[in-house]
Amino acid sequence: MYYPEDLIEEVRTKNDIVDVISGYVKLQRKGSSYFGLCPFHNEKSPSFSVSPSKQMYYCFGCGAGGNIITFIMEYENYSFPEALRFLADRVGMDLPEQEYSKEARAQQDLRASILEVNKIAAKYYYYQLRTSAGAQGMEYLRARQLSEDTMRQFGLGYAGKFSDGLYHYLKQKGIGDELLHQSGLMNVDEKRGMYDKFWNRVIFPIMDVNNRVIGFGGRVMGDGKPKYLNSPETKVFDKSRNLYGLNIARTSRKKKIIVCEGYMDVIAMHQAGFNNAVASLGTALTSQHASLLKRYTDEVILSYDSDEAGVKAALRAIPMMKEAGIRARVLHLEPYKDPDEFMKALGAEAFQERLDQAQNSFLFELSILEKQHDMQDPESKTAFFKEAAKKISEFELEVERENYIEAVAEQYHTSFEGLRKMVLRCLMQGLPAKPEVVRTRRNTEKDDGLKKSQRMLLTWLTEYKSFYAVLKPYIGPEDFTNDFYRKVAGILFAQLEEGTLNPARIIDCFTDAEEQRQAAELFHTMVPVEKEEEMKKAMKETIGKVMEASLEQRSATMDPADMGALQQVIEGKRRLQELQKLHISLE
Ligand code: GTP
Ligand code: MN
Repeated sequence: MYYPEDLIEEVRTKNDIVDVISGYVKLQRKGSSYFGLCPFHNEKSPSFSVSPSKQMYYCFGCGAGGNIITFIMEYENYSFPEALRFLADRVGMDLPEQEYSKEARAQQDLRASILEVNKIAAKYYYYQLRTSAGAQGMEYLRARQLSEDTMRQFGLGYAGKFSDGLYHYLKQKGIGDELLHQSGLMNVDEKRGMYDKFWNRVIFPIMDVNNRVIGFGGRVMGDGKPKYLNSPETKVFDKSRNLYGLNIARTSRKKKIIVCEGYMDVIAMHQAGFNNAVASLGTALTSQHASLLKRYTDEVILSYDSDEAGVKAALRAIPMMKEAGIRARVLHLEPYKDPDEFMKALGAEAFQERLDQAQNSFLFELSILEKQHDMQDPESKTAFFKEAAKKISEFELEVERENYIEAVAEQYHTSFEGLRKMVLRCLMQGLPAKPEVVRTRRNTEKDDGLKKSQRMLLTWLTEYKSFYAVLKPYIGPEDFTNDFYRKVAGILFAQLEEGTLNPARIIDCFTDAEEQRQAAELFHTMVPVEKEEEMKKAMKETIGKVMEASLEQRSATMDPADMGALQQVIEGKRRLQELQKLHISLE
């Protein structure tokens, strides 16, 4: 962190969270909090809450959360210092410049400068396309049946015949060679010096979710090679964390997101009304892409080219989606190659039909497996079913397995009972290994339960002033078994001890947005009771659970020769018994 804590605190307290967020999200008061539609994922009923007393926001739908600095970081895609500067500006505060470390300041400025250069370049290309010099580009895009509106929406442009047009333009704007180099817009070689990376191509500016130009793709107008050139990764262009079209798709308010391969596919789909389409940036889909998508949707339709590479890409993407908690379906475009071609041939309605018929990702995986087997040969066919049964046995829930057994039996013309027996056998065969699996699963369930209990305590501590006095004799920060929770509890307890409860300040101890989100989550755990009596009962039970787990962990890791530690455990057990008698009052 490059600013002193007190200064950060000052910026934060001068920017009331309800005030600032109201500028972005329509908020309505409900009890002690405000609610609105979450700007970080698509939803129809408001689960985004802003608490004036905690000066924090939290979305019960997607888990986004933090204080006002986090919000600005997330919403505007700013770094911590950028967000701080933004908020300071908002209330007319001057941030002392010297507080920056020199290096941090330089990094900061570089990011902002590259974005600025990108913006200028995007405007330049955009303008070029619309001059007589850009006629060939315009002709190409028109031939691909893009409307003027679509070209404008995607900011399409054109890089002219000469390889120094942009270079001279930017130089004349006073931009230095070093910055030009860092922007990724130029090539440099010894013989020719610096010159434009993109020339004689139509240009696709690539925008982040906040509509800032972070890079470019350029396509040849015809059959030349390479078909596309893309900006290299720069300080502002991270290909594995951005998706083409997501800036629009995320506000489409559609339930699903269509993931396809190319820029042209995205544009063609948007033009046809499927404005929930996105594409990766000339690279394979990554797990970071999957988590990015998860912020906006629970279901994606994979719409890859219908060639071997596309099938491979889908097979790779499916487990990543599953891992991120996204359901995936696979779109079939045969006999056409990609969405663009499909729609040109059959139109948007036919495309919608195919979308509706998109295949369940498990059945897709199975259909690929089928192709690897000779279904006319009894032995190979049996091997296929064994493999299928094994895959089905990996589903956790019995109903899930039964449903898949039914679907597979029907589709591949085999008996339900027969397949079911095979699945059972797989489950049994897995048995020696099974207790281990079951144990770890139980453990994680228990773990999750325990973490939730710890979160509930932290939530109550921030919501009921008198809860700290109730809790204190039984639980200290050291009883939080999770490292991160313990750290947050340590700060929170210190504040409560001093009588200066300030949850939003705790968030500032973390400069990483993900950690800020996690910290916010700790203070916004849903407690499934409403009546005061039930609440008190839940409090008592939760204190007991957390104490017990802490004791259990302490006895498990204790050195038996350490009398002091033993004493503590005995004392802890005594207090746990005492807890039974506790009567909670929350005046
Ligand atoms: P059209 O062929 O014009 O319809 O474009 P497309 O967007 O459908 O492209 P395609 O399906 O061939 O490729 C998918 C994506 O891969 C493109 O959008 C690019 O991001 C990337 N890509 C394609 N060709 C190249 C290439 O030659 N070099 C690089 N770096 N990326 C490419
Ligand atoms: Mn294409």
